[in-house]
Amino acid sequence: SSPLRLGIAGLGTVGAGVIRLLETNNDLITARAGRALKVVAVSARNRTQDRGVTLEGLRWYDNAVDLAADPEVDVVVELIGGSEGPARALVEAALAAGKAVVTANKALLALHGPALAQSSAANNAPLLFEAAVAGGIPAIKTVREGLAADRLLRIGGILNGTCNYILTVMRETGKDFASVLADAQQLGYAEADPSTDIDGWDAAHKLAILAGLAFGRPVDFSTVHVQGIRHIGAADLDFARKLGYRIKLLGLARMGDAGLEARVTPCLVPEDAPIAQVDGVFNAVVAEGAFAGRLMIEGRGAGAGPTASAVTADLIDIARGNTIPVWGVQTTQAEALQACPLSAG
Ligand code: HSE
Repeated sequence: SSPLRLGIAGLGTVGAGVIRLLETNNDLITARAGRALKVVAVSARNRTQDRGVTLEGLRWYDNAVDLAADPEVDVVVELIGGSEGPARALVEAALAAGKAVVTANKALLALHGPALAQSSAANNAPLLFEAAVAGGIPAIKTVREGLAADRLLRIGGILNGTCNYILTVMRETGKDFASVLADAQQLGYAEADPSTDIDGWDAAHKLAILAGLAFGRPVDFSTVHVQGIRHIGAADLDFARKLGYRIKLLGLARMGDAGLEARVTPCLVPEDAPIAQVDGVFNAVVAEGAFAGRLMIEGRGAGAGPTASAVTADLIDIARGNTIPVWGVQTTQAEALQACPLSAG
């Protein structure tokens, strides 16, 4: 069968990572997808930068939005980032043109997900975003597919690798906040503007996406309570340790009687709790289903490899025709508890 033709916008760490993964695992990916995945066009600002991957023979667009109009692009892969500007314009144009979109853009989905989901449905254009939440952890698949039969009571976890890395290294080495943040930036985990990470916004974006999927409805991002880790110092970490706790930045969402309750906030967790053991750049996604009970998946939440792996899994799903609507069926906490009364509490 004919190859699935890809147009990739953004050739940073993740974009270059996707091209490298498609090359390295070409045979395996073709076998699993049932057809070849072929990059035909790209868009990035700098044409001459060495990204360690071959871009020869690919059409190059200076304006990302032009990828949406390329008749030979079947799938637009948006890896530019940012909730506005070229990323938003490209995703909107691609969906309007009826093209499938794969994106890793958590800010875009958290702020404009409802409108994009509507456009995706109206234009019969799949919108997949596994890489937008918790990097290499198949968080979206777990909620939408693994727990497809269940009603969810809670969803959340450790959703920002930079913050978890900072809290871990501060605790283990006694280094100060600013120097550990600089390390995280060097390692390529941090967002371009570090306040997106350390003030909790990135975790909140991911929580809003997860909550939308878990409870089957768009989340109004302005209702998410957000507190970051900027003010946590050595004394706080010491104090927690003496009491037998660790400090983790957690995002947690549940459907309460008054609707969705979603918050990102530094929490004290008992040091022997499984989530307390999740350290460094690792993330953890926790969920509780009325029938499935509690689960936790841990994995790398940032970086080229994990994120490229998640983006490419979405591309394989599109090649296979395994695409599902953005929001599922709405559920409430009461319905979830009623579904399986034994799980209450
Ligand atoms: N800055 C993000 C993090 C990258 O640290 O988790 C992945 O979204």
